This record gives sequence, structure tokens and C-alpha cells, in this order.
Amino acid sequence: MVWIFLWILLISCLCIVLYLKKRRKRMSNEPPLDKGLVPWLGHAVEFGKDSATFLLKMKRKHGDIFTVQMAGRFVTVLLDPHSYDSVLWESTAKLDFAAYSRLLMDRIFDVQLPNYDPHKEKNMMKTQLQGENLSTLTQAMSSNLQNVLLSEAKGTTKTWMKEGLFNFCYNILFRAGYLTLFGNEREHSNKETSKNKDRIHSETVYHEYRRLDQLLIKLAYSTLSADEKKEAASVKKRLWSLLSGENLNGKLNRSNWLEGYRNHLQDLELQDDMLARAMVLQIWATQGNIGPATFWLLAFLLKHPEAMTAVLDEINRNGKLHGNKIQFNNPLLTISQDLLDNTPVFDSILNEILRLTAAPYISREILQNMTLRLADSREYNLRKGDRLCLFPYLSPQMDPEIYEEPEKFKYDRFLNADGTEKKNFFKNGKQLKYYNMPWGGGGNVCIARVYAINSIKLFVFMMLSQFDFQLADPEARIPVFDTSRYGFGLMQPEHDIIFQYKPKVE
Ligand SMILES: *[C@@H]1O[C@H](CO)[C@@H](O)[C@H](O)[C@H]1NC(C)=O
Ligand SMILES: *[C@@H]1O[C@H](CO)[C@@H](O)[C@H](O)[C@H]1NC(C)=O
Ligand SMILES: *[C@@H]1O[C@H](CO)[C@@H](O)[C@H](O)[C@H]1NC(C)=O
Repeated sequence: MVWIFLWILLISCLCIVLYLKKRRKRMSNEPPLDKGLVPWLGHAVEFGKDSATFLLKMKRKHGDIFTVQMAGRFVTVLLDPHSYDSVLWESTAKLDFAAYSRLLMDRIFDVQLPNYDPHKEKNMMKTQLQGENLSTLTQAMSSNLQNVLLSEAKGTTKTWMKEGLFNFCYNILFRAGYLTLFGNEREHSNKETSKNKDRIHSETVYHEYRRLDQLLIKLAYSTLSADEKKEAASVKKRLWSLLSGENLNGKLNRSNWLEGYRNHLQDLELQDDMLARAMVLQIWATQGNIGPATFWLLAFLLKHPEAMTAVLDEINRNGKLHGNKIQFNNPLLTISQDLLDNTPVFDSILNEILRLTAAPYISREILQNMTLRLADSREYNLRKGDRLCLFPYLSPQMDPEIYEEPEKFKYDRFLNADGTEKKNFFKNGKQLKYYNMPWGGGGNVCIARVYAINSIKLFVFMMLSQFDFQLADPEARIPVFDTSRYGFGLMQPEHDIIFQYKPKVE
């Protein structure tokens, strides 16, 4: 008995000694180190539940740069927007972006792309999202929006239709966006059946997509239960088959973006099943944020009559400028980029909504020991193998030193007194280059930004011109965030909010 006890004691001591010896210590010139109380796991649990609250706590304790331990990894977090350029423009030999996105691509979407070159892919996509290619996409989006939004509501002018506002926005924008990029169903006998088929088919894809979207965070953190794992696998399988090469080949009106991307993948010599997986990844990358952003926008408009009035005034003013009422329900009418670009009030509201609800991380793998120089000339050593992370949501976006009452929605926050866009914001008396970063920044800025904004505008303008709508319960509050989603783009509400709508009577 005594021997066994001594044996266990000896082993335990050995373990503790080994642990203490291997234990990481903060070296001089390194950022403050916070390992948390639990060995190895560190702060992982708290971080996973609500990373914004956790990182704000760390910021109060350590300042705007610190290193935390999470599940065996050490992550250095930088929260000084004046210094973001030193990360965003650092060479990829020191700070690598691709490794982490490759890891997530594999973990969430089972996509492995050998010879994957994010720069090449981006350059290819860029040409599809500018100039005449952009107008073609915008025009197709308008036509598909009319199909999924207006056709379904026809003949129901008498009664209010009730629905969750989040699901409504996500559903309509996803389906129209999906049809725009991936193409329309082929018509057989007459045009109407093709439009019908589009509506039914896009609903099927949306339904599967949403189930995957709801498991996405757990997939990213590898925390699925056994049942959820089974569900994720079966949902992915169905999406892969819906987006198989054979199915895509059968479609009409496939966008140049899709064809360009497929050619790009074919150059990588991938098997057919890997191509389909990459399509599912792209569906999420292109459609995952527009719907949620538009939900927050409509929700805040409905709760803030002064903002709603300002938007409607602007639409009327623009209408007069263009001779007549602008028609968002006429498929033959080309909506010019000029018109879409000329909406400073709407743009201010959209910027304010994105400031409040866009919360992606900007992550880099540290590939070699290096020194990070901050804007105020502080210098910190960073270690090879750690991860570096920016979280613009905490600063600049929700930083009280930059924005007065940052948690409040103010529709004219990004407007100057003369009605132009306000771009000068300050921290510590110095003007900021990055004051709002929903689209990322530097070399990683979102290339689909203009197309995404066009889509949101088309949808909101169509809603405002074609429908009466209101919250079912005018007293209902705007829902809080699902806090597990910090870091993955647009936030989603913890629960939906019911609204009612019906087509306007002409
Ligand atoms: C539009 O796309 C085509 C390929 O589909 C490309 O050759 C052309 O350069 C693009 N236009 C612009 C303005 O980038
Ligand atoms: C293809 O696109 C054009 C222009 O956007 C549209 O008018 C037409 O209805 C589309 N075809 C189908 C089958 O939806
Ligand atoms: C990087 O820095 C760490 C900590 O200062 C040190 O232990 C390690 O040996 C360095 N690695 C290289 C490759 O210089």
C-alpha cells in the first residue's frame, strides 16, 4: 500500500516538475502573458462562450496588446487600430494568412486544395466584381430578387403575412444571391415554370445551408456532439450533391464569376467531389453575411422612425432627380451604379449597422520570431508558432474613445453636416486610418464589397417601395447577439423577431 502511494507521489512530482520546466514564461519585451487558471486549456472555454466580453476584460487588465493561452495555443491579441497596418501589411514570410484559412476550410467544409494560392484566386474573382461584370451581376441580382421576393407575395394585399424578420431577410437574400452566382433552372415549356423552379430549388438549397450555418461555429471549434457530427455530415453530403458539377452544368445564366472560379479549380486538378465541396465553401463565403446584415438594418430602421424617415426622404429626392419614381419592380429597367452610389444617408445607416454588428477576427500565423512595432513606437517580440489576432469590433468599432455612446445606433454618425460622408474619426488626438472595419482591411479587404452593398440596397429599396411592413409587436426589442459567433463575420441574433408585411396598394 505504502509503496503504491509513494510511487504515485513520485510520478505526480515528476509531472509537476516537467510541467513547470516546460511552462511558458513571459520574456522581456513580450506582450503581457495571461495563461488562465486551467493548464493547457487556458481561457478557451470563456473565449468560446463570448469572446468579445472576454477580450474586453483582458484589455482592461493588460492594455491593447496581450497574449492569452487557449487550448494549447498562444494567441497574441492587438487592439490598437493605429497599429493595425503593421500587421495588415507585414510580409507573408512572417505573418501568414493562408494557413489558418486552410485549416478552417478543411475543418468546416472538408475542402483540401493542394497548391492553393489565395492571391491568384482573389485576382481572378476581382475582375468579376468590377466594371461591366459588376453591372451584369447587379442586374441579375435585381431580376432574381424580383422573382423570390415579389412573385411569392403576389395577390396577398389584403392580409398581413407574419414571419421572423431574420429568417425572411436571410432567406430572400440567400436565394437571390445563390441564383445570381450559380445560375437559373432551365425552362422546359414556358418561362413561368423556370421561375417557379428557381424559387423551389433555391428554397431547398437555403434550407440545407441554414442547417450547416447553425453548426458552423461548433465545426470551426471542433466541439460537435456525436449527433451533431452525424447531422453535419449528412447536410454537407446533400449540399455537395445539390452543387455537383453535373447539376451546375445543367443551369442557365451561370455567372462569369462561377465559371472563372470553376476554371481556376480545374487548373488545380481537383476531383469532382472536391469541386462540389469548394462550391459549398463559396456559398457560405458569398452569402453568409449579406442576409444577417440586412436583418439588423431593417430591424434598426423599424425601431428608429427618424432613420426610416431620412431613408425614405432620400429615396424620394433621388426619384425626383431622375424624373420619376425609381422603379425597383421593373425587370426591364436597368438600375445604374450611379443611382446606387448616390445614397449618402443610406450609406451612413449601413456603415453604422456594420459598425455595430460585424465582428470578424483578422488572424495571422506567426512564422518566425519577429518584432512588432506599434504606432506609438512601443516594440514587442512575437514568437514563432503563436497566432496573432486583430479584433476591430472592440476597437475601433465599439471603442468609446472613438465613438460617443458606441453601443447606440445613430443613423447620421457617418454623415457630415453638409450631407457628405464623414470619414474623420480620432483616437488619442490622432486621426484614424481604420475607424470601421466590417470588410477587413489592407491586403485582405473584401473584394465583393460593392456587389454586397448593391445587393443590400436593391433588397431594402424593393422592400420599402413595394411593401408595407412593421414589427408585429411594436414594443418588441431588438434581439441580443448569439455571442458564440464573435469572430466569424456578421453577428446573428439569439432569437428572431416577428414582423408583418403586405404588398403596397398602388
Ligand atoms: C470581366 O470578365 C472577363 C472574363 O469573364 C474578363 O476578361 C474581363 O477583364 C472582366 N472585366 C473587367 C472590367 O475586369
Ligand atoms: C437569365 O437572365 C436574364 C437577365 O438577367 C433574365 O431576364 C432571364 O429571365 C434569366 N433566365 C432564366 C431562365 O431565369
Ligand atoms: C524564438 O523565440 C523564443 C522565445 O524568445 C526562443 O525560445 C526560440 O528559441 C526562438 N526561436 C528561434 C528559431 O529563434
